Amino acid sequence: MARLNLNSLQKMKADNNKIAMLTAYDASFSYALEQAGVDVILVGDSLGMVIQGQESTLPVTVDNMVYHTANVVRGCEQVFVIADLPFMSYANADQAISNAARLMAEGGAQMVKLEGGAVIADTIKQLTSRGIPVCAHLGLLPQSVHRLGGYRVQGRDDVSAQQLIDDAQTLQDAGADILVLECVPAALAQQITQQLDIPVIGIGAGNDCDGQVLVIYDMLGLTPGKRPRFSHDFLADTGSIPAAISRYVDDVKSGAFPTQDQQY
Ligand code: KIV
Repeated sequence: MARLNLNSLQKMKADNNKIAMLTAYDASFSYALEQAGVDVILVGDSLGMVIQGQESTLPVTVDNMVYHTANVVRGCEQVFVIADLPFMSYANADQAISNAARLMAEGGAQMVKLEGGAVIADTIKQLTSRGIPVCAHLGLLPQSVHRLGGYRVQGRDDVSAQQLIDDAQTLQDAGADILVLECVPAALAQQITQQLDIPVIGIGAGNDCDGQVLVIYDMLGLTPGKRPRFSHDFLADTGSIPAAISRYVDDVKSGAFPTQDQQY
């Protein structure tokens, strides 16, 4: 069977079928996620924190991303694979194009993800006009953690909420095919999801998004420190990694995850 593609994801939004997405960084987890029915794997630059033990995602390189993306792509046959462009690897459009080309040609990704609002609209236009599908990322932007002053919920006041609504529209108009919304109030995420034609995948963005994503080690309860409110330890509920991933997929698909208590 062929890999899922953008049309399949677009149809899932149109048919109100929730999209289950998780991060993975290696072939074994990639295989496990496919077996459990995950639709999309994100090779996130969160690997800087959960694989490399860094304090943030900032030290992650394009070489790191290519290496992990290739490992993930070898582990699955049908899942749609998105790879992050890491910090400052898309500071201008030329750089974005050559680094995205590496993630796709060497890594085998089907799409690249970039963090940022209207400021990256032109870069998205350049990428998509050259046949590179783009997942945009708004709300809490981990690559901007020092500017944001920490990992905080975004869009809580009217001005910043309106900015996110406008940015989301601008990025879709620039050609983005998917939007990840991280750590924003559920009501705002619902409004953006309804407004956009492209699938909106939430992480800490409430239940009304078109799909959900979590960092795999967070949802297995392996990440040290305080678990974010929007995450859940599915391994504690189920007792095995395959069962935990299957429960996550079932709960995303049925709308049981996230609950009211797991959103802002
Ligand atoms: O890098 C990552 O894993 C991400 C998710 C948190 C959405 O961007």
